[in-house]
Amino acid sequence: MTNPVAIVTGSAKGIGLSIAQELSSRGYSLVISDLDAADCARVAATLPSAVGIACDVRDEGQVKALIEHAVDHYGHLDLMVPNAGIGLVAPILETDLSAWRSVTSVNLDGVFLSIRYAAPAIIASGGGAIVTIASVTGTTGSPLVASYGAAKAAVINLTKTAAIEMRDHGLRVNAVVPGFIGTDLVTHTASDFERHLGLSEGGFASVISAKQGRFGTTEDIARAVAFLADPSQSWVTGSTLTLDGGLTAGLI
Ligand SMILES: NC(=O)c1ccc[n+]([C@@H]2O[C@H](COP(=O)([O-])OP(=O)(O)OC[C@H]3O[C@@H](n4cnc5c(N)ncnc54)[C@H](O)[C@@H]3O)[C@@H](O)[C@H]2O)c1
Repeated sequence: MTNPVAIVTGSAKGIGLSIAQELSSRGYSLVISDLDAADCARVAATLPSAVGIACDVRDEGQVKALIEHAVDHYGHLDLMVPNAGIGLVAPILETDLSAWRSVTSVNLDGVFLSIRYAAPAIIASGGGAIVTIASVTGTTGSPLVASYGAAKAAVINLTKTAAIEMRDHGLRVNAVVPGFIGTDLVTHTASDFERHLGLSEGGFASVISAKQGRFGTTEDIARAVAFLADPSQSWVTGSTLTLDGGLTAGLI
């Protein structure tokens, strides 16, 4: 039996790193992929079976090469996790088209390209799974995150459409829908939320902690990704799994 093989984009830190670590602990061989080759190699060296391959998910040629390189290296591909993402906190009226496109190019185009090129490789390997990383901002209107939320809403729709198209080819496609997780993506933008929402310093973390019970951890998301990826969930496809401590469960 060979190890199952997974690619996780944006896995040099944050949620992607935890996903890679969780999958590794469950016996996967990993492809650690991120923008910087040295970061990829550094993380790969910490795992028992891993290789680092740099890739900018906005670039079609690089995504195609990432998948080919992974299959050349391991001989097969079983799981794709298109995790790479960036944030932008700004009102619509202060968002210009280039800023909008910089967010959607990573958070939506990057997921499309990852699915577009990983799916044939997984199907050729005998089937497997793709788990996308959406967001609660993609399921509810959320002030200040128009480009991010719109991209994440599109990721949910893309996930469901891919699930239907791939169902008869042995490839399951599901999404996790996280609330706020304490990574750089959130901590680096907290002051922008506070400025626009009129909150004092630390106010954003207090509001979110109250509404979620606590901040989510990267491990909360990693375990959910591993659950959806597991072959034992053979009837789970086209699903969204929300992990937000109840943030979006009710109105008050
Ligand atoms: N942190 C949260 O609260 C939260 C909530 C919901 C969803 N998410 C999603 O989880 C995913 C991971 O986010 P995170 O919180 O770990 O953020 P993070 O900023 O800690 O990590 C993101 C990683 O993606 C990489 N990256 C950025 N642009 C890239 C590109 N063009 N090509 C390849 N890699 C690129 C970065 O270098 C970084 O390593 C993202 O898709 C994000 O939208 C995060």
